[in-house]
Amino acid sequence: MNVSDSERVSSHLESDGFELTSDESSADVVIFNTCSVREKAEHKLYTRVGQLQKAYGPKKMVGVMGCVAQLEGENLFEGGRGIDFVVGTRAVGRISEAIGKALEGEKRVLDLKGREDDYDWTVSETHRHSPYVGFVPIIEGCNKFCTYCIVPFSRGREKSLPPAEIVRQVLDLRRQGVKEVHLIGQNVNSYRPLTDAGFEEFRGATPFSRLLRAAASTGIERIKFTTSFPRDFHNDIVDAINEHENLCNWVHLPVQSGSDRILRAMRRGHTVENYRKRIDLLKRSPRKIGLTTDIIVGFPGETEQDFEETVDLVRYCEYDSAYIFKYSPRPGTPAAELPDDVPADEKTRRFLELEKVQKQNQARSLERTLGSDMEVLAEKISGKDDRQLSGHTTCHKVVNFKARRSFLGEIRTVRITEIKSNTLFGESL
Ligand code: 5AD
Ligand code: SF4
Repeated sequence: MNVSDSERVSSHLESDGFELTSDESSADVVIFNTCSVREKAEHKLYTRVGQLQKAYGPKKMVGVMGCVAQLEGENLFEGGRGIDFVVGTRAVGRISEAIGKALEGEKRVLDLKGREDDYDWTVSETHRHSPYVGFVPIIEGCNKFCTYCIVPFSRGREKSLPPAEIVRQVLDLRRQGVKEVHLIGQNVNSYRPLTDAGFEEFRGATPFSRLLRAAASTGIERIKFTTSFPRDFHNDIVDAINEHENLCNWVHLPVQSGSDRILRAMRRGHTVENYRKRIDLLKRSPRKIGLTTDIIVGFPGETEQDFEETVDLVRYCEYDSAYIFKYSPRPGTPAAELPDDVPADEKTRRFLELEKVQKQNQARSLERTLGSDMEVLAEKISGKDDRQLSGHTTCHKVVNFKARRSFLGEIRTVRITEIKSNTLFGESL
């Protein structure tokens, strides 16, 4: 979501007449887009602002957008950090105005208000992380209030975009040569628009599965979606994937813990058993759906027994990939009121042990692809070897492969010939 916000803001600033540069020394204004989901991410902002201040002093104008901006607001102006403007998560549409005010000499420019709905968020090709991959936010914010999570506070309540607008964006991206769109949101399957306009003719028990079918009908080559929330992950989503080839066979379904006691304390709204049933359903799909997840270790009160249950679940689910995090208390969340009682070195031990188990899953999942032919979108020239191209499969695995540069932007059939340090290598057929 943050990468998508950066792309949108870049395009927007350019169309408002600003010249963009990635060279910070030549910039008049530096903007930080920030994350506050874990303590470490938040600290990064303060470190980087400090470095900037040291290198250039007050002559460089500094702005902060994103979750830290929303949560900290005017506190960011305190402590002589040299921050000139702060723009919240739902005010980014007015970032040019904030910069304008700061350039005119206004001090402490702060905008945390909501966003106007008629905002044009078209992203130009040059500002996408890949010219062939486009993000389309479909729902912003979160109503779930998992007890450890700051997102409902930083991004506000769930707000779904109208289906007709989403379909229009997918069609626009397709016209611009994008091959793969990612429908994104904190919980895409909680999608609940105010109107039906744009997907009346599409079947499905939930609005999200209807949106998937509507997006599939645009004929764009690939559609991926992330993140899904387990409690609202219904069969109709798998039905849609089974019936539309351009809905990709990849599902990111964060479980966070394999212990019912901890899931309850996290207020996730599902049990281990419910979750396993959803995994079973996904595994039964003929589409060979790739599965990924997020897990937190060391949540307050997590015992060795709870942790072992997480290890068991990770073995059971055989994820293709997992993001594992050590719990960090976020001020203002209910879990931050609980004692952070798993010692730091124990969190690290659990992290490493779980990582080891997951690495075995991942190795098996990669080995299964050896010798097979996979469809890969040639997204860019490989950073490690400029004779190779790099891209993703439909199940979201990274593949590097030997191929002509003229194949960039094409979906190629690649024979997998080698696995090296968790990456697939192959040759374009
Ligand atoms: N501590 C550690 N990890 C967290 N996440 C969210 N909040 C916290 C926290 N306080 C993780 C969750 C979520 C991912 C984006 O970040 O696993 O799915
Ligand atoms: Fe955070 Fe839970 Fe919402 Fe995900 S579903 S953003 S973890 S509150």
